[in-house]
Amino acid sequence: MNNKIALITGANRGLGLEIGRQLGRQGIIVLLGARSLSKAEDAAVQLKAENIEAYPVELDVTDDRHIRAVAAKIKAEYGKLDILVNNAGIFLDHEGNNTDVMRRTFEVNIFGAHALTEALLPLLNASPEGRIVNQSSILGSVATILTNEMYAKAAAPAYTASKAALNAWTAQLSIQLRGTNVKVNACHPGWVKTDLGGKDADMEIHEGAETAVSLATLPSDGPTGGLFHGSETLPW
Ligand SMILES: NC(=O)c1ccc[n+]([C@@H]2O[C@H](COP(=O)([O-])OP(=O)(O)OC[C@H]3O[C@@H](n4cnc5c(N)ncnc54)[C@H](OP(=O)(O)O)[C@@H]3O)[C@@H](O)[C@H]2O)c1
Repeated sequence: MNNKIALITGANRGLGLEIGRQLGRQGIIVLLGARSLSKAEDAAVQLKAENIEAYPVELDVTDDRHIRAVAAKIKAEYGKLDILVNNAGIFLDHEGNNTDVMRRTFEVNIFGAHALTEALLPLLNASPEGRIVNQSSILGSVATILTNEMYAKAAAPAYTASKAALNAWTAQLSIQLRGTNVKVNACHPGWVKTDLGGKDADMEIHEGAETAVSLATLPSDGPTGGLFHGSETLPW
């Protein structure tokens, strides 16, 4: 019996719920974070019906009180955290190209992930093999959007800048964590049929979850400080 503990943010729907399902199927205890407790509870009920050990956690990643409460709960109940998947993310560029959109996007996509990770680092360090996965996007790859017309056309400055910041911070954190048991990587799930990805996307949700799940369960000789899609390393 595996007694690993994983926390996934934005786990009430889309990729986050599926990442919880796929980690749970491996015998990992999954803590499903959602902005409200009722959404988290609904998600946990779904996965428990599939014989997965899933528990709900109230976690709006922009709310410092939620972050403090989650860290205290995990410390008290488990004394460590093996896997953190910073999956919660928003895309607001359809609302316009302005600083308000940029600021609100950054609040979730980078500041939320950063604040939560800071609070949980002592618990990840307490794991024999801590793993952090930052759910990013190919649109955060500056090298890609400058050279690939398909991605250049996405024209989403706030989303793109927030994911590029997430990528840069992932690299920084990997440097900070050198010599520890904790690995951190950024993930591009692909273009996936979720509420965010839309119905025209070319990947099903179960396929889109696979990169994050594989980075969350990397062996001790696995990579750190990279941006990945499947087995492919993407340029920053
Ligand atoms: N789908 C794609 O094609 C694609 C491609 C590249 C990257 N991604 C990334 O993958 C991640 C998951 O996206 P998805 O496609 O599964 O999108 P989704 O179906 O729209 O789900 C987004 C999740 O994030 C949660 N969330 C939003 N703001 C939050 C906050 N402040 N605190 C906590 N949770 C919050 C949402 O909760 P509510 O239900 O409460 O709104 C929801 O659970 C995102 O980071 C996204 O940028 C997706």
